[in-house]
Amino acid sequence: MKNRLRNLLSESLPLEDLTHIYNSYDVIGDIAVIRVTESFRKHSQTVAETIMKIHKNIKTVLAQTSPVRGDFRLRKLKFVAGEDKTTTTHKEYGCLFSIDLAKCYFSPRLLFERMRVAKHVRNGEVVVNMFAGVGCFSILIAKHSKAEKVYSIDVNPSAFQCMQKNVRLNRVYGRVIPVKGDAREIIEKRLCCVADRVLMPLPDKASEYLQYALSAVKNAGGWICYYDFEHAGKNMDPVEKVKMKVAEKLESLGEAFTFPLGRVVRTIGPNWYQVVLDIKLISCGNKENDESS
Ligand SMILES: C[S@@+](CC[C@H](N)C(=O)[O-])C[C@H]1O[C@@H](n2cnc3c(N)ncnc32)[C@H](O)[C@@H]1O
Repeated sequence: MKNRLRNLLSESLPLEDLTHIYNSYDVIGDIAVIRVTESFRKHSQTVAETIMKIHKNIKTVLAQTSPVRGDFRLRKLKFVAGEDKTTTTHKEYGCLFSIDLAKCYFSPRLLFERMRVAKHVRNGEVVVNMFAGVGCFSILIAKHSKAEKVYSIDVNPSAFQCMQKNVRLNRVYGRVIPVKGDAREIIEKRLCCVADRVLMPLPDKASEYLQYALSAVKNAGGWICYYDFEHAGKNMDPVEKVKMKVAEKLESLGEAFTFPLGRVVRTIGPNWYQVVLDIKLISCGNKENDESS
């Protein structure tokens, strides 16, 4: 499909401009999100119309005009063609996600990672998703595992609203529990020592929140699914760099752990990577309500 875009565009755009047009775009439900650099924004309409020719189901094309940023991890979007809207329903592995792209984070590129995590969840597990967004990791887990409960925290009220809707859409009431607020406060007040598994899908702040993830894990031990961004030049391994950083932190907190898995989830820029570590905690360190203390 991506090559088809370039081929079709070559019929209408000059070759020197074509090389500056991003060949990749995201399809989220019936919305396509394109990226066009400032100087080539004049071609947005042509790119949008070409995408709508390729995907007959696309009703709207939006252009991403800023990087993903801020606490809510949002990007600026500009309407380009079709129906002027930012809400859609995306389907992934049989799950439906209602999303307002202007108000909530969502990336269709993480689908493999979401399923990888869901496949690891064992029967009866309690999961805490610290940064749940519209609930995609949580709902996929509920649908594709026998987890008992997935507490799904997000601080963004719009993401929380979409998550509540998605719980209804996917009929996972009582198993996915949307919680609105700051993950630190929620864990300290309500979710200390409850989890077999904690998900931390907020790579730019992972290290800062690690101690709260530890607090959520049961005293008997459990798993933390830890995401981070890492820079790695030539001959450097971003996964090893993250392992070293996390190991140092966990050792300083007195935790016993192993890293059964570490991998690059995706490349996010030149020499920059999103990395995931599956951390296995053998037993958890000092917890406030540790019965043995
Ligand atoms: C990168 S997004 C990931 C969302 C979702 N897990 C996904 O993969 O689509 C991170 C999410 O964390 C939320 N967030 C940021 N800081 C938070 C905090 N302190 N407590 C709870 N949620 C937070 C943001 O609102 C955002 O929805």
